[in-house]
Amino acid sequence: MTFKIALIRGDGIGPEVVGEAVKVMETIGKRFGHQFEFVDILMGGCAIDAVGTSYPDGTAEKCKACDAVLLGAVGGPKWGHATQPEKRPETALLSIRKDLGLYANLRPAALRPALSQACPLKKETADRGIDLMIVRELTGGIYFGKRERYQTEDRGEEASDRMAYSELEIERIGRRAFELARLRRGKLASVDKANVLETSRLWRQVMHRLAEEYSDVAYEDVLVDNAAMQLVRDPGQFDVVVTENMFGDILSDEASMITGSIGLLPSASIGDQAPGLYEPIHGSAPDIAGQDKANPIATILSVAMMFRYSFQLAAEADAIEQAVDAVLNEGWRTADIAGPGEPAIGTIQMGELIRSKLK
Ligand code: IPM
Ligand code: MG
Repeated sequence: MTFKIALIRGDGIGPEVVGEAVKVMETIGKRFGHQFEFVDILMGGCAIDAVGTSYPDGTAEKCKACDAVLLGAVGGPKWGHATQPEKRPETALLSIRKDLGLYANLRPAALRPALSQACPLKKETADRGIDLMIVRELTGGIYFGKRERYQTEDRGEEASDRMAYSELEIERIGRRAFELARLRRGKLASVDKANVLETSRLWRQVMHRLAEEYSDVAYEDVLVDNAAMQLVRDPGQFDVVVTENMFGDILSDEASMITGSIGLLPSASIGDQAPGLYEPIHGSAPDIAGQDKANPIATILSVAMMFRYSFQLAAEADAIEQAVDAVLNEGWRTADIAGPGEPAIGTIQMGELIRSKLK
């Protein structure tokens, strides 16, 4: 099979980690008999520098001509102060999510056995294991509602951000989450703030309707403040967690932290049509960019998600995940996951070791 993959290498450590992921794809291609064609796409801070806008015209069209998109990271302090939207790297991220219809963001947070000592929670908690998947709604809610700023008569300036959700938007993300729960351990927690927000009350109503249809899945409602607490108290209780855009943004960062390394976690953003977009959940880490220090594992595991969810190549995805675990089990660490006094290897060597397990 031939697959065409858009590469948004982006900013900071993005190009380095994508470089290692591309080499892993080439190794997989040789072993399993696939061809990969790569198309480079300029987006983010580097695009602001090159052409004056973070999301150049035609970006979405170029991605749509591919079977999947792999993104390194975009953004950095260099572009952090701009106020015009086209001069902000985040604008490109939000635009590509919307333009490609990527309404479902899957963010797994699993404690890898070799790294259980990196978990910042109590040992008894870590020993119970952590393996959850946050399903974050990605193209609706407060991220995409109307933003305003206006003068009031007596209270100075005022700002507002509108949060809206339709039944259609809630139902399609809900279905994704129930389907995923069926493929995993059959448990789904829906996180909302239904004791306060009307959007959450509609969210809950739709989720309850789906829970009847998917009666084989064990379903529960969890209020978002309680969910934040449960994630540090007893994360082992969660399997799939579905939630709206902003709650998902916050809870997925929290979930990544409890696994001990953000440098290990991949993500997938998918819609009803190809291409899906795959990216590490860490940022562009400008402080270590270009120094061969970044951990390429999150990006390499994002390729595994791409194979699994966009290409239905489960054996290839398993092979990548097993290669990563094998290297970690042998004790190899990049700086972000090295314990005190443990030696660390660089981005390139980590990539090479993972590929050596794939040959
Ligand atoms: C994320 C990021 C983005 C978000 C930012 C950079 C716009 O935090 O992907 O979680 O809030 O969605
Ligand atoms: Mg975030």
